[in-house]
Amino acid sequence: MPPTQPSATEITAPARIAILPPAVADQIAAGEVVERPASVVKELIENALDAGATSIDVLAEDGGRIRIRVSDDGTGMTRDDAVLALERHATSKIRSAADLVGVPTFGFRGEALPAICSVSQFELETALEDGAGTRVSGAGGTVRDVDAAARRRGTTVTVSRLFFNAPARQKFLRSARSEWRSILDVVSTMSLMRRDVRITLAHDGREVLSLAAAHSLRERIAALWSADYAARFVPVDDVAGAIHVSGLVERPADVGMSSRRVHLAVNGRAIRDAGIVRAAETAFRSTIPSGVRPTMFLEVVVPAESVDINVHPTKAEVRFRDRWVLERAVEQAVRRALGTTDSAASIGAPVLWTPRGVDTTSYSFGAPPRGSAPLLEVSHEDSSYDQAPAAESDVPALTQYKRTYLTFETDLGLVLIDQHSAHERVLFERFMATFEGGSSPSQRLLFPLTLTLTSPEAEALEDHREALQLLGFELGEFGGQTVIVHAVPNPHPRFDAERCLRESLAALAGDRPAASASRHQHLAATVACKAAIKAGDALSPQEMRALFVALRACTLPAHDVHGRQTIVQLSWDELERRFGRR
Ligand SMILES: Nc1ncnc2c1ncn2[C@@H]1O[C@H](COP(=O)(O)OP(=O)(O)OP(=O)(O)O)[C@@H](O)[C@H]1O
Ligand SMILES: [Mg+2]
Repeated sequence: MPPTQPSATEITAPARIAILPPAVADQIAAGEVVERPASVVKELIENALDAGATSIDVLAEDGGRIRIRVSDDGTGMTRDDAVLALERHATSKIRSAADLVGVPTFGFRGEALPAICSVSQFELETALEDGAGTRVSGAGGTVRDVDAAARRRGTTVTVSRLFFNAPARQKFLRSARSEWRSILDVVSTMSLMRRDVRITLAHDGREVLSLAAAHSLRERIAALWSADYAARFVPVDDVAGAIHVSGLVERPADVGMSSRRVHLAVNGRAIRDAGIVRAAETAFRSTIPSGVRPTMFLEVVVPAESVDINVHPTKAEVRFRDRWVLERAVEQAVRRALGTTDSAASIGAPVLWTPRGVDTTSYSFGAPPRGSAPLLEVSHEDSSYDQAPAAESDVPALTQYKRTYLTFETDLGLVLIDQHSAHERVLFERFMATFEGGSSPSQRLLFPLTLTLTSPEAEALEDHREALQLLGFELGEFGGQTVIVHAVPNPHPRFDAERCLRESLAALAGDRPAASASRHQHLAATVACKAAIKAGDALSPQEMRALFVALRACTLPAHDVHGRQTIVQLSWDELERRFGRR
């Protein structure tokens, strides 16, 4: 289109566009960074950490609405820098856009201090060395005074009357209690990420947190909440290509017992990411009832160039170049953690087996190579157990108690296995493998079974027909509500196929249709539960051995499919303590 000539009326009309005065522009920009007192606390702690602080003291009054103060023992600033730091786009952390890739500091925009100062009464005290320092103070973004001040090396920023000059923003502040809770949350999160730093937090004159520098995430969690709480977690530590996933996740048996916490850090930054959390939760599937969600503290390290941290005003979210690979790495890491017996319930010290991959003299669940495990093909007449394969030669001497639990001892303590839960887990994993392309042995019946079903059961059968065939149920044509069964799976000699099929169909009847993956899972769990040996079934030594070997080969041996544990451990240490021997 050719440029049109402005008409005379347009030229004489008053200008409608004007550059905003800096103070207004700053306040608008501040809206993105400073949402509430907790955002101020977050930015000030990040600055302290960027300045190399080893000790940070945080103080808040009235949920941070009256005052917030963050003091550090970091590098401090010169007088000139202290004044410049309050200008927008003033930063010591990057010099060019290229520096943004893998920037090692929390800050890089040069926005936080000016944003905070534009909506508060502020004071910044800083010194490069103990003794001579600088105090800069002002309000609403305007510096009033710059004086000399004696102080220790480091920086203290005091922010008073947040939003005093922005009544609209002030109206959006929640109660002091609620703002305080957000501050506590932010400080806890930062303290989990930077365990090496001593942090204290006081509210309205009361010290709430006093955290010494810690050596591990577990130690920090213990200091933040309690040692009992910290003991409920299983370590995650896994490398997939260039991705390292570590942290702690809740033992399945404890999930749902207290309020849920999720902490996620990527390359040392606390972020929110529903996709990663979902991936971790996927790994919990079949170990906890659906609907309950596990607590997790996860730390992911990815190559700097595969993540963009500059996509969110408060850096609370990041963008990944290959999200799918990352999510699979997280899922695998968590699943591996749950596959160790460390994730099983224990009385006393939790670890009787070292996690997989580590050389150990005790019995290591999960040690045999995947896929090589036999089904629990137990049979009283079967003599093949006499020639147990070499891989099974390290099976401990097993004893059955109350026809319900298998027990054995290791160098470190006693182990109890619930035979029904264990077999259920073995069958479940086998069935799932069948759905993914394996096959399930079945046995043709000399006399086919004829079952008469209720109509919801017949519907469930129709819904799951193909999957049931895969599991070894050969189902004939049926008229109305009658079905003929020609072959059935053969998981153990006492297996009552008719009962298993009836009970499974009864359990499946009336279920709402679900996505095929979870349908398979649901079916596998249901049939596994009905097909597994029961509490009260006496097992021969061969059967116990077979069950042990099959369980050991499972991905998640320590958890049954309903969220209960299959294994309970009692350490000798704990036993001796209880008997007063130590
Ligand atoms: N506690 C501190 N100790 C030493 N220097 C500090 C401290 N706080 C701020 N500074 C200096 O002031 C500068 C400005 O801080 P500000 O938080 O505004 O921006 P930033 O941290 O560089 O980036 P961002 O806006 O992303 O946080 C920093 O780059 C740093 O040099
Ligand atoms: Mg900053």
